[in-house]
Amino acid sequence: MEIVIADFSGFCFGVERAINIVETEAGAGGKTVTFGPIIHNPQVVDALAKKGVKPINALEEIEKNDSVIIRSHGVEKATLELISKKVSRVIDATCPFVLKAQRAAAELSHKCDSVVILGEEQHPEVKSIISYTTGEYFVVSLPDEAEKLPFRKKYGFLAQTTQNNEIFLKISDILKTKCDSVTIVKTICNATNRRQKASVELAATVDIMVVIGGKNSANTTRLYQLCKEICPQTFHIETVGELPSSTFRHINRIGLTAGASTPGYLVQEVREYILRSADE
Ligand code: F3S
Repeated sequence: MEIVIADFSGFCFGVERAINIVETEAGAGGKTVTFGPIIHNPQVVDALAKKGVKPINALEEIEKNDSVIIRSHGVEKATLELISKKVSRVIDATCPFVLKAQRAAAELSHKCDSVVILGEEQHPEVKSIISYTTGEYFVVSLPDEAEKLPFRKKYGFLAQTTQNNEIFLKISDILKTKCDSVTIVKTICNATNRRQKASVELAATVDIMVVIGGKNSANTTRLYQLCKEICPQTFHIETVGELPSSTFRHINRIGLTAGASTPGYLVQEVREYILRSADE
């Protein structure tokens, strides 16, 4: 049996940066919390909590002397202002690509009649992007939804950083038929593009594909959906315990990939488990 790990699997630049910030703060003394989970991987968040940096989910949970780290997905503008008023030490671990999308939303709001965001409306990153718009906005997740948008003179268009580039291009074309002019800002990050492309290419060559990463991770869920379209035997798991051993007997080639917030050791655990169960 051959097990192939997709190129660009696992931690991206923004996630590594955020974890480094938390680890540095954990060793600095004093109480430090993250606003929301620092990344969307429960295993990593639990490990960081054991080192003393726990996630909190509401402003009321913040105490006056806390140091507060802003999660990699960013927070809403008003929330950031309230946190900054409440405590004297705020460390921003928002991924620079998310910051770019927030800035683009503010600029497009200023220049255009309406801003269209490709993304999941309830995702923290999208909520943070919306909070930087100042006028009308729409959130769409599929080309069909873009087809239903009203006509406007000027549209601005951007995406949640982990969306799919092909869908972004399709919606860009649809928007051109919905207005006199559209300003498009490419905010999908390179790490996402590269990982999706490598994973889909691998999925086309294997019997089974395993996608490893948080069930609450948008980029991992997107990877799963893309791989499943190509390889029907695709599984999305967080940890090795979710895999049935019998699945891997008599299989020739298995592909593994992992979301941007999945640590390498979880991928290696899955690889070793599959090798063992193939021998049983
Ligand atoms: Fe940032 Fe892209 Fe990672 S937006 S957190 S580098 S997936």
